[in-house]
Amino acid sequence: MVWNGFRDWLCPDLGIDLGTANTRIVVRGKGLVVDEPSVVAMEKGSRRVLGQGTAVGRLARQMMGRTPDSITAVQPLRSGSITDFEVCESMLRYLMRKAASQSGGFRPRVVVTVPCELTPVEKHIIFNSVERAGAGRVYLVEQSRAASIGAGLPISEPIANMICDLGSGTSEIAVLSLAEIVAGKSLKVAGDSMDEAIVEYVRREFSLRIGTRTAERLKISIGSAFPLDEELTTEVRGLDIVSSIPRKALITSEQVRAALQEPLGRILEGITSVIERCAPELVADLAETGIVLCGGSAQLRGIDSLLREQLGIPIRIASDPLTTTARGTAICLDHLQHWRGRFESEAA
Ligand SMILES: Nc1ncnc2c1ncn2[C@@H]1O[C@H](COP(=O)(O)OP(=O)(O)OP(=O)(O)O)[C@@H](O)[C@H]1O
Ligand SMILES: [Mg+2]
Repeated sequence: MVWNGFRDWLCPDLGIDLGTANTRIVVRGKGLVVDEPSVVAMEKGSRRVLGQGTAVGRLARQMMGRTPDSITAVQPLRSGSITDFEVCESMLRYLMRKAASQSGGFRPRVVVTVPCELTPVEKHIIFNSVERAGAGRVYLVEQSRAASIGAGLPISEPIANMICDLGSGTSEIAVLSLAEIVAGKSLKVAGDSMDEAIVEYVRREFSLRIGTRTAERLKISIGSAFPLDEELTTEVRGLDIVSSIPRKALITSEQVRAALQEPLGRILEGITSVIERCAPELVADLAETGIVLCGGSAQLRGIDSLLREQLGIPIRIASDPLTTTARGTAICLDHLQHWRGRFESEAA
């Protein structure tokens, strides 16, 4: 016990919510200490991380789309799985050091979230990345389990609870009961797909070429899933697709909503497909307990109203939805001794 306390002091355990857009790290006993975009800036040829390994996160994200030829800003994850192993390892090494500066020669135990439908190979890649980045022991936990724990759902009880973590690369949808995921889906449709749908809409309806960053800004400033009390208008700037000359146009929230219809429809289909896989008793529970939404895309205006109207069950948005899953990993760390069997201490 004393040893554990000493070890915790020297080298605290870490919980990592490894996201496509953002990586968040909690330190046992301290809470959230790192919240940075999952982006790394590096030299193109040597693939050396700029700033002696420190051009990671916010600084690197600012460079995206604006780098000279010799430099590149890379997102090492796509749809929740690692697409660039080396870059992910560099990013995690920097962020883990930032989270726990003192280590006394120990390597921290790390709980890291993974989408529920990853292949064993994809899980292995995440496991190895975290280990090579400096972890002593690695425990993988399903993102939806961490999210529902972070949202304070009573997942150990014999009653169905449903969580949707709507992020940027994936929508993790799951029903949990008696501490197990009884039905779950990792849908590769979330915030990024919404941005891409806006890019496509603006190209089609306005003959303007815009980037995904501009589309994301439009989504956040006037985007919605359900009619607004007062509809909004903003200016969009892009390149005319015929003349290639910069041009601006006015776009309304109704138009952005029309653009978002397709990805939102697919998220809705994903949710209904998970509900359909549940036993009738669990479905009956859901009519009472409803769905809790978290993740950045749960902040889209009116997404709760849309789901409430379409599904006819209660919908609640978790408090501080961006950090729900990371806070869930902090609770997992507190119970690591008892819950060890629930995590995978080795890649499958
Ligand atoms: N106010 C908002 N309205 C709509 N979308 C938003 C808002 N704020 C953030 N987002 C979106 O939330 C997403 C980021 O959320 P989050 O940080 O939960 O993703 P992530 O955890 O990195 O991704 P994933 O879990 O899918 O791997 C981005 O797509 C961003 O555009
Ligand atoms: Mg996430």
